[in-house]
Amino acid sequence: MTNLAAASFLCILSFHLFASSSLVGAASLSEDLTEYVNPFIGTEGQGNPGSAAGGGNVFPGAALPFGVVKFGIDTTAFDWTNVDANAGYTPDGLVTGLSMLHESGTGGAPTYGFVHQMPLTSLENVNVLDNFTYMQERVEPDVATVGYCKTVLANGVTAELTATAHAGIVQYSVTSGQELHILVDVSHMLPSSGEAQHSQFYSNGFLERSPDGSQYSGYGVYRGGFSDRPNAPVYFCAEFDTAPVKVQLFSGQYTDPYWPNSTYFRPPTFTNATSISGGQKYYGYAKRVGGLFTFPSITSSLKSRLGVSFISSDTACQYISTELPTWNLEPIIAAAKTEWNSEVLSKVITTDKSNATLLEMLYSGLYKMHLMPSNRTGENPNWDTDEPTYDDFYTLWDTFRCLNSYLVLTAPRRAADIVRGLIDVWRNEIFMPDARSGNYNGRVQGGSNADNVLADAYIKGLSAPEFNINWEDGYAAMKTNAELVPYNTFDAGDPTGSVKEGRGALPDWLSLGFVSLYDSMAGTGFGRSISRTVEYGLNDFALSQVAKDLAPQDYAKYFNRSAGWQHIWQHNLTSLNLTGFLAPLYANGTRDPTYSPLNCGVWCSWSDVTYEGLPWEYSWTIPYDMATLISFMGGPNTTEARLDAMFIPGLQDGSVGAGNGVGTAIFNPGNEPSFGTPFLYNYLQGKQWKSVMRGRDIVKEYYSNGRDGVPGNSDAGALESWMVWNLIGIYPVVTQPVYLLLSPWFSDLTLSVAGNKTLKITTEGLDVGPYVQSITVNGQSWNKSWVTHEDLISGDGGSIHFVLGSAQTEWDVGDLPPSPGHLDLGIRN
Ligand SMILES: *[C@@H]1O[C@H](CO)[C@@H](O)[C@H](O)[C@H]1NC(C)=O
Ligand SMILES: *[C@@H]1O[C@H](CO)[C@@H](O)[C@H](O)[C@H]1NC(C)=O
Ligand SMILES: *[C@@H]1O[C@H](CO)[C@@H](O)[C@H](O)[C@H]1NC(C)=O
Ligand SMILES: *[C@@H]1O[C@H](CO)[C@@H](O)[C@H](O)[C@H]1NC(C)=O
Ligand SMILES: *[C@@H]1O[C@H](CO)[C@@H](O)[C@H](O)[C@H]1NC(C)=O
Ligand SMILES: *[C@@H]1O[C@H](CO)[C@@H](O)[C@H](O)[C@H]1NC(C)=O
Ligand SMILES: *[C@@H]1O[C@H](CO)[C@@H](O)[C@H](O)[C@H]1NC(C)=O
Ligand SMILES: *[C@@H]1O[C@H](CO)[C@@H](O)[C@H](O)[C@H]1NC(C)=O
Ligand SMILES: *[C@@H]1O[C@H](CO)[C@@H](O)[C@H](O)[C@H]1NC(C)=O
Ligand SMILES: *[C@@H]1O[C@H](CO)[C@@H](O)[C@H](O)[C@H]1NC(C)=O
Ligand SMILES: *[C@@H]1O[C@H](CO)[C@@H](O)[C@H](O)[C@H]1NC(C)=O
Ligand SMILES: *[C@@H]1O[C@H](CO)[C@@H](O)[C@H](O)[C@H]1NC(C)=O
Repeated sequence: MTNLAAASFLCILSFHLFASSSLVGAASLSEDLTEYVNPFIGTEGQGNPGSAAGGGNVFPGAALPFGVVKFGIDTTAFDWTNVDANAGYTPDGLVTGLSMLHESGTGGAPTYGFVHQMPLTSLENVNVLDNFTYMQERVEPDVATVGYCKTVLANGVTAELTATAHAGIVQYSVTSGQELHILVDVSHMLPSSGEAQHSQFYSNGFLERSPDGSQYSGYGVYRGGFSDRPNAPVYFCAEFDTAPVKVQLFSGQYTDPYWPNSTYFRPPTFTNATSISGGQKYYGYAKRVGGLFTFPSITSSLKSRLGVSFISSDTACQYISTELPTWNLEPIIAAAKTEWNSEVLSKVITTDKSNATLLEMLYSGLYKMHLMPSNRTGENPNWDTDEPTYDDFYTLWDTFRCLNSYLVLTAPRRAADIVRGLIDVWRNEIFMPDARSGNYNGRVQGGSNADNVLADAYIKGLSAPEFNINWEDGYAAMKTNAELVPYNTFDAGDPTGSVKEGRGALPDWLSLGFVSLYDSMAGTGFGRSISRTVEYGLNDFALSQVAKDLAPQDYAKYFNRSAGWQHIWQHNLTSLNLTGFLAPLYANGTRDPTYSPLNCGVWCSWSDVTYEGLPWEYSWTIPYDMATLISFMGGPNTTEARLDAMFIPGLQDGSVGAGNGVGTAIFNPGNEPSFGTPFLYNYLQGKQWKSVMRGRDIVKEYYSNGRDGVPGNSDAGALESWMVWNLIGIYPVVTQPVYLLLSPWFSDLTLSVAGNKTLKITTEGLDVGPYVQSITVNGQSWNKSWVTHEDLISGDGGSIHFVLGSAQTEWDVGDLPPSPGHLDLGIRN
């Protein structure tokens, strides 16, 4: 999903030399690859220097791979029509505090921003209930490196912080003689989005302190956000390395969603008591609570260790003792670097250091692909389980296309844990999520894409017993999506069916074979009828691939259902001189005569015919049956012409609403529906060179190592994963054990695949040109534009050697990539 924007600053990378002896994983890593990671890439919008508008919403603070804690600064976002601050961070906002829980790269609506501290050097005119009375400008560029970030506030405080999986340390420094107060606002959270319905709210809170004030703990209860989650507590625990000279706890009137500085609201009440409660535990409009800790005048440096838990404040305190056995930031930062190197960055190594920009793009991309979801194993407040727990799928609609496939290839154990976590949600809540945050499913943008993630894992070897996935349950979870209509959530964006989980438009899919256009008079149909039709088709193809093994009796049913898109293919519908498009059909099979595939309705949003993409874009999203699609498009030549049309500037005349990326072509580099399209030339004999050309052009035009180096919301790393596959030179076809061959950007790449195997990708002629002249796969000369998963991992791994050059050589004369879902239903509308 893409939506509005995120943030900036001059990044100052610190280069640390790194001792490799403790590394596991890639054998002879002698290098600290974190030096190539710039956490700020994706914090500013393209064409909006210094602003988050149109940016990636990337989280630039301290975090471990898949860490629960993402510790960073929260800033104001003033202009909600242009800017959201979904990761808490804007380059130009004012700092209202530091907090421990964030998402990275999301659109939709801000979620989290909890477990807060704000350093103050004066209390003059400060209303502890009004962050506008104490927010601070930054007077130096923020600094962020892996495991570390630093911000310098106008009030004289420098804050530096680092994080572990469930805890963090912050160090505040002031010029000696300055006062130092730490304000803790339990009701602090990320600013609400302009979209009132999915804003989050503080509901309740509790804080207690030790008699000397050096330790405090408690919880805040919050609700809402993108998933529209109900009230749930987040527990915290914190301690200071210096005892305060004065502590006051405070409470104040409930103010959400009103501005706190209105004269209508009463001022805060301070108390010397050692605890403060917002109200009855389950009351959702309780008082705001917090604490104000004042430190001795000689304090020039104060440290605080904080832990967070979804279980209890005791657990949050335990995380401090188990994960932070020191008050020093350095060893924690070093441990974070070690973990990022061993778990993530060393999975792709190269000796080709000729282009520092490319290295920064590659490793920063990998970094951003591994911030979400959050590994909440042992932190499940809702049921007892021995399965891994993962939260912050925000969203699978974004990541299923190529990010999850990257984990399956390079980190199968992690990919398996994520699948187990998804299945465990089904086991306890009936449906797997498509999106989930705050331990709550929602919202579903199209299909039930966990189906695709599970099938992709299953067919690429994660069916093996060593991965401990209960595939009987896994298939049952997929089947629930395919057969059980989720209750309608009557979402304001689209009241026609559930947007919480499952397939809201399933009744049509089951009875008509497609999702029909919403007709308010007849009371039939659903929002997003085209995009849901194609996504449900892929979902059912995914089911068929698992059913083939586990439930052969179901195979034909789901295989047939996957062709449902053919019901809405209008063979004679013309747009831009090309014929044959998806179209929204009413339940009776007729089409709105005013429909154009260049337009989706109003916003390409929840109630339109396509979601965050144009019907033109969605007409390409049948990866499992390209053979039928190409024949419907009039054969290879017209398909090629149509692919070419996708990239002609100026042809996009319909608004793509929140999905809007950059550029004026129909192809949208900034959002997921277009992800696979540039590489579909691989399905046309002799045209692989055009996939290379498109991939190269798009990466060069829209991706960079700048703060605006991502063409839209990062979407939990989905955009970065698209770029990384390009740089590596292969692209996965999700739900099939197939990768399309592109053209690598490095002379050599060594990938750690399938646990302990090696995939070697080498090139020659990279300096001459990007186009493939010939390819060798595992020593065999190759004339196909694709390889199988097995080709990459059999034996000790695989090897692909690319001979590149400037000639647009038609080398790919062998078998085309497969169309394993090939089925022509014979419908000719
Ligand atoms: C600041 O306070 C306002 C009003 O309570 C709140 O909506 C917002 O989330 C807070 N934080 C930031 C970063 O603006
Ligand atoms: C506080 O009140 C002033 C004056 O009414 C207003 O301009 C300002 O925007 C208010 N602050 C917030 C956070 O709403
Ligand atoms: C808190 O204690 C201080 C010091 O004893 C005292 O001056 C102050 O009045 C007390 N505040 C309240 C709200 O009781
Ligand atoms: C390095 O790669 C970037 C990104 O493609 C490109 O813009 C730049 O020109 C390259 N630099 C050199 C020296 O080739
Ligand atoms: C996930 O978190 C749990 C609990 O912290 C930890 O034991 C486990 O190793 C983590 N998973 C991975 C793959 O690192
Ligand atoms: C699947 O479709 C074929 C025709 O394409 C038909 O013969 C078969 O009965 C269908 N199977 C099921 C289970 O619907
Ligand atoms: C469509 O065909 C007409 C007539 O041949 C031509 O003038 C027009 O440029 C074509 N449009 C596109 C988008 O190719
Ligand atoms: C089909 O349904 C649409 C929308 O309700 C209606 O306008 C149209 O007249 C119907 N067509 C037929 C042939 O019934
Ligand atoms: C497709 O284009 C090729 C090359 O221009 C041409 O040789 C071939 O005849 C065309 N095929 C059809 C079916 O038009
Ligand atoms: C690689 O991993 C597999 C699966 O975990 C294991 O069976 C095999 O022994 C490992 N091989 C090596 C060389 O470590
Ligand atoms: C492609 O390569 C295969 C395997 O070497 C070979 O059998 C086949 O004839 C080749 N195809 C063409 C069209 O050259
Ligand atoms: C499409 O147009 C052709 C030529 O006008 C016509 O023969 C055919 O019946 C039409 N097909 C449909 C499904 O309308």
